[in-house]
Amino acid sequence: MEFLEYNQLPQQQIPINETSSIASFIIDNDNNIDEKTIQSFGDEWTKFNSFTKEEICIAGSQYFDIVKQEHLNKNTNVLDLGCGSGRWTKFIASRVKLVEAIDPSDAVLSAFNLNQNEKNVRVTRASVANIPFADESFDFVVCLGVLHHIPDTKKALLNLVKKMKMGGYVLLYIYYNLDNRGVLYKWLYKGSVYPRIFISKMPKNTKKLICDLIAVFIYLPLICIAKSIKFIFPTTKIYKKWPLSYYIGKSFNIIRNDALDRFGTPLEQRFSKNEIANMMKNCGLSEIKFSENAPFWHVLGKRVI
Ligand SMILES: C[S@@+](CC[C@H](N)C(=O)[O-])C[C@H]1O[C@@H](n2cnc3c(N)ncnc32)[C@H](O)[C@@H]1O
Repeated sequence: MEFLEYNQLPQQQIPINETSSIASFIIDNDNNIDEKTIQSFGDEWTKFNSFTKEEICIAGSQYFDIVKQEHLNKNTNVLDLGCGSGRWTKFIASRVKLVEAIDPSDAVLSAFNLNQNEKNVRVTRASVANIPFADESFDFVVCLGVLHHIPDTKKALLNLVKKMKMGGYVLLYIYYNLDNRGVLYKWLYKGSVYPRIFISKMPKNTKKLICDLIAVFIYLPLICIAKSIKFIFPTTKIYKKWPLSYYIGKSFNIIRNDALDRFGTPLEQRFSKNEIANMMKNCGLSEIKFSENAPFWHVLGKRVI
């Protein structure tokens, strides 16, 4: 498989086995990265890296609900920016020409393992501040759950857009600020902010244990209530108004992973739909299409400038 050419020499090759290594382009003076967050994700994805095909398919079909064949097909060169465990790379690999998956954390090792049988996938260690490919290289960029963990979100989006071809598309998932939710959600969110700041500073094993307990004693009961509402009112969508109803049908593995994501990550920012739309327009994107479904907000945009 012929991958894209790197536009610089790697600082390092991380050996994986006798025949493979991962090129690393981590720069010393990266001022748009939160080191503690990267460390935390490295730990997280080393723990959660064994998604089943079914788990990836169920979650993938929700994130990619607004992506059509015209956006992603056998002619498409894709960048998966902040690939984490590499689950979205895995989800799309068979449908596209090639995927360059990049992440600055130890997660690259998990992404490599998950995708080692995909011949059109290459994993690289790099951050958004130094994406090691020429400008206008990609037809499609996937950047799910990443930009809100970066100190300057808009600057990161600008860097990403530069790597898109004119007319190329980007799929983003950026944490919403609960702008489409009622008081119950907002109240629960406010109550979670201080525990998150506290938990994210804990040593990694304690943090994992506490987040597992949150998954069992907070997530599962709320999901059970959502399921009961769905059972009692089967013909309405009223259950969707209940916090964490999104997790109905999701595996416990995904629930634990998301609890660790939500409570264990030091840097998290939240944006309204309008803020995201404005930021995208200011970065040269147009034809902005938000999904009406959770997770909020995931959105597609086309590069026009
Ligand atoms: C919540 S995880 C999402 C991973 C993956 N996209 C997914 O949805 O499964 C966020 C990822 O963003 C990466 N990340 C954080 N800061 C970054 C930066 N400055 N440049 C690129 N990726 C970054 C982290 O290492 C982490 O793997």
